[in-house]
Amino acid sequence: MEKDRIYIFDTTLRDGEQAPGYSMNLEEKIRMALQLEALGVDILEAGFAIASPGDFASVQAISKEVKNVVVASLSRALEKDIDAAYEAVKHAKRPRIHTFLATSDLHLQYKLKMSRDDAYTKAVAMVKYARNLTGDVEFSLEDATRTDLDYMCKVVEGVIAAGASVVNLPDTVGYATPEDMTRMISTVMNKVPNMDKAILAVHCHNDLGLAVANSLAGLKAGARQAECTICGIGERAGNAAVEEIVMGIRTRNDSYPFEYNINTEEISRSSRLLTQITGVKPNPSKAIVGANAFAHESGIHQHGMMANSLTYEIMTPESVGVMNTSLILGKHSGQHAFEKRLADLGYTLGKEEIKSLFSEFKNLADRKKTIVDRDLIALVESSSQSSPVTWELETFVVNSGNLMTSTACVTLRKGDKTYQEVAMGTGPVYASLRAVEKIIRHPFSLEDYSLQAVTEHRDALGEVHVKITDGRGMYRGRGVSTDVIEASILSCLSAVNRMVDDAASISNGKTLKPTSPPHFENDMLRSHSDKEKENSDA
Ligand code: KIV
Ligand code: ZN
Repeated sequence: MEKDRIYIFDTTLRDGEQAPGYSMNLEEKIRMALQLEALGVDILEAGFAIASPGDFASVQAISKEVKNVVVASLSRALEKDIDAAYEAVKHAKRPRIHTFLATSDLHLQYKLKMSRDDAYTKAVAMVKYARNLTGDVEFSLEDATRTDLDYMCKVVEGVIAAGASVVNLPDTVGYATPEDMTRMISTVMNKVPNMDKAILAVHCHNDLGLAVANSLAGLKAGARQAECTICGIGERAGNAAVEEIVMGIRTRNDSYPFEYNINTEEISRSSRLLTQITGVKPNPSKAIVGANAFAHESGIHQHGMMANSLTYEIMTPESVGVMNTSLILGKHSGQHAFEKRLADLGYTLGKEEIKSLFSEFKNLADRKKTIVDRDLIALVESSSQSSPVTWELETFVVNSGNLMTSTACVTLRKGDKTYQEVAMGTGPVYASLRAVEKIIRHPFSLEDYSLQAVTEHRDALGEVHVKITDGRGMYRGRGVSTDVIEASILSCLSAVNRMVDDAASISNGKTLKPTSPPHFENDMLRSHSDKEKENSDA
């Protein structure tokens, strides 16, 4: 039987990035976009161009950067939004304008204060307007799952006649059940006379934990585009997770006989990059990418796995890019073995990068007896941060205990000069960060701090993520070391370097400006992330 092709529309950088804690700066969005391209997504929604200059600039930059993916920008059904979206995506090899209008009576009456007829006319007119700019236009009927079905069919027919090549029926508030999705998609497929001229998309939110089940039901009923995000990040309870949809199709191809372009071995790396950038780890029991997704703790399971892995494993860790290996490196390992292991893990790095990483690896091996894949990944990923390096850690000494006030003496280097300060605090981390603050003479406060072990053993690497603010912006940082105080100082310094670099660009008048800036609006869809200044260092 010939299988139908499913198109994966990734909206990690638009719907996902709108979620609190997930905002990314320009450089981070480009890194994520390139990884999504490596993952093989068909369409990449790079942002909401009219929402802010930062969004516009990142949609524009991603459009120029990626080569094999359709790049879309979201826009409301307004001419000025559509113009901004087109300006931002026009350099892409395959640009798409994605415009939307709500169609449920609830939204029409209370939000848009519009009649059904007016909304129909507007939708058709805006699709025509967008089609005059580019050949690939997607139209979304916001809150489709609470829209009257006859009216929905009328709008779908109208926008297809106006030139939409994709029509999306989102479950905006995560209200639908799989049965609702089947009914809605089959009705539209059967009743809309020109449905053969466009493809239907599903875009499900996860408020009832049904986003993936709903997406699969929609695909089974005839939709051919699934809109989703890495790890299911998104507003409220999030969107459907791309890795769950794709692995659902791959593992249960008997039920979902579709083809897709996703390179599933890139799934784990995509999720790790998201964590590295945002500092947010998926729940350990999260399907496919959680730390425990392939761990078999119970004796019965382990016994079964040893006898035949099919007893308890429905997909292999390797199929999603999780390397299951017992190869362990240590201080006697040579550069060749190190390089080979990195290559096996999928890192193709230049000679200079390998050289510098190998020396970091040797330092680590002096402190940690055995180095496993997760340590190597942490090493490569912490050194792949392209953050500015103004301040570097030279030395630190802390004095701490339960009967005393902690004291830290920190020495930092800036260029060829070193600076030292001593500070006290309620704990060694606090004292160290205060010493850093005294040296850099740029006050900041710590907004968020998290510490996690990279591996399980006593000599595990500690990974610290911080968020700091100087009142003008929010800056993220990440640091890795076998010493948690050192990891804390390193993560603070990576955030500090972003902060001082940003302050210097502002005082030099070098803030990022997109070309042909349109008139930006603080749309409600971006309400929270405007608060988080788009500067971070994962
Ligand atoms: O959830 C939703 O309805 C959306 C649309 C803007 C596509 O994200
Ligand atoms: Zn959405």
